[in-house]
Amino acid sequence: MPLDETAEPSDALDSLPEDRVADPATLTAQNHEWWRTAVIYQVYPRSFADSSGDGIGDLRGITAHLGDLADLGVDAVWLSPFSKSPQRDAGYDVSDYCDVDPIFGTLADFDALRAEATAQGLRLIVDLVPNHTSSDHPWFQAALAAGPGSPERARYMFREGRGADGELPPNNWPSVFGGDAWTRVTEADGTPGQWYLHLFDTSQPDLDWTNPEVRTDFLDVLRFWLDRGVDGFRIDVAHGLIKKEGLPDYTPPAGSGSMGGGTGEAEMPPWWGQDGVHEIYRTWHDVVASYEGDRILVAEAWVEPLSKLANWVRPDEMQQAFNFTYLESGWTATRIREVIDASIAVFSSVGAPSTWVLSNHDVVRHASRLALTADSPQGSGIGPKSPGLPDRAVGLRRARAASALMLALPGSAYIYQGEELGLPEAIDLPDEARQDPTWFRTKGERYGRDGCRVPIPWQASAPAYGFNTTGAAWLPQPADWAPYARDAQEGVPGSTLELYRLALQTREEFALGAGSVEWLPGYGASVVAFRNGDVTVIANTGSVPVELPVGEVLLSSVPLEGPALPTDATVWLQV
Ligand code: NOJ
Repeated sequence: MPLDETAEPSDALDSLPEDRVADPATLTAQNHEWWRTAVIYQVYPRSFADSSGDGIGDLRGITAHLGDLADLGVDAVWLSPFSKSPQRDAGYDVSDYCDVDPIFGTLADFDALRAEATAQGLRLIVDLVPNHTSSDHPWFQAALAAGPGSPERARYMFREGRGADGELPPNNWPSVFGGDAWTRVTEADGTPGQWYLHLFDTSQPDLDWTNPEVRTDFLDVLRFWLDRGVDGFRIDVAHGLIKKEGLPDYTPPAGSGSMGGGTGEAEMPPWWGQDGVHEIYRTWHDVVASYEGDRILVAEAWVEPLSKLANWVRPDEMQQAFNFTYLESGWTATRIREVIDASIAVFSSVGAPSTWVLSNHDVVRHASRLALTADSPQGSGIGPKSPGLPDRAVGLRRARAASALMLALPGSAYIYQGEELGLPEAIDLPDEARQDPTWFRTKGERYGRDGCRVPIPWQASAPAYGFNTTGAAWLPQPADWAPYARDAQEGVPGSTLELYRLALQTREEFALGAGSVEWLPGYGASVVAFRNGDVTVIANTGSVPVELPVGEVLLSSVPLEGPALPTDATVWLQV
């Protein structure tokens, strides 16, 4: 990610979604809705806490630490997938949507986790993966066995190949993880047969969402988890369920991110962002709304521009969508201001809260990403041979400043486990330890996402840094992570953990989530300066110190020496 203060603004705002402008009275009535202002903490179950000691995190491990998350001050927890899965894409390859994978525990463990979350005052969101199943799913196994033209195959995207003998894939679509998006099957009689579509790994066949049976089955899955008391769903690949009719060939423009965004292009590839997805979410909206409580759908949709993404959160669709445009806005004040403006305008035009996110299990952790000095397209990851590797101190300093800025914004913010510890990307993972399908499908050309998925440190001087008691870890933890451990930061003034805790407390106290952004002029191009209610927020992304107004410092991402804000720092003031 180049640090370029002169970067051209993209068309993030474009035009507002045509038909759904929210009426202010409705918005006021909705203001009690918890998700409009919530801070939501992402738990990646494999890497959070491991009660069994097998090196893979589990539900009991999570339950044991929910109190720590409540103490941090978050409102809700989102769990990445824990359903039954052969784990070829770390659980995003589901073989049974209504059971827990034994590596994570049991349904009873889930119920206990749900109960403890309630006891701790935390909402609970689970991940739903509807674009594809695992190839181990009984539906796919039945489709393979049943053969061409069968109703079983009609659940998936099977097609005849091109070429004289069908030896070429049906079109030229690439897999997000590298290589072709099609795999040819061998039919029961041993001959080469049809091809099936997999936008991700070969072990993740895409479902055909034009098939009414697929739709009905997923309504049952939604109800299964709603009945078990979840407060909502994060919808995986929410921009991918419907593909353009005829599955036409397409060549993405250079520079587009692997999940679709990245170029600011209004035109999406024929496998992303098709209008047909919206009627699916309207049905889901109705199911979720039919349950008591205030339950939500959150779109993981890599869609640009933001005005198009807003279509996922129209009043009768989902409640929130991840703001990946913000995640990708770098550490450049002009771009950050532009994206904040665009986000607030487009989301509020449909009555939805803006969301903010800097890290998750798919991207280079922002404590490293914000100090990269070379491009790193989303999904590629970084490793020892990547160009422009970050300076760790600069990365941490920018990450703290960026997080302090994000947590001052109105709307709902997402925190990815470990960012509250200032964790950097694990860059030096040995090749033989890597597990991301991206690494294998690109034959090591892209490192993929393992570096942001390493089990997190709880205790500086315990085996596996307290991730478990045996010292096992499914990805090796760097030898120098002790200073990041939670117990090394707990109660230590100025630590990243205490910075997050203070930010969340102050955000709550001043109701920043329900506030607004009023830009403050006169600070120059490299500064993001605004008022949100009674709080003045100033972030300096430039190289020259910024003079601060007189006021009480509520929070600062760096120790302040005098009335100036140094580079790569954010301060909250009561002026
Ligand atoms: C998005 C998820 O966040 C990612 O981890 C996964 O690999 C893909 N969707 C495929 O499910």
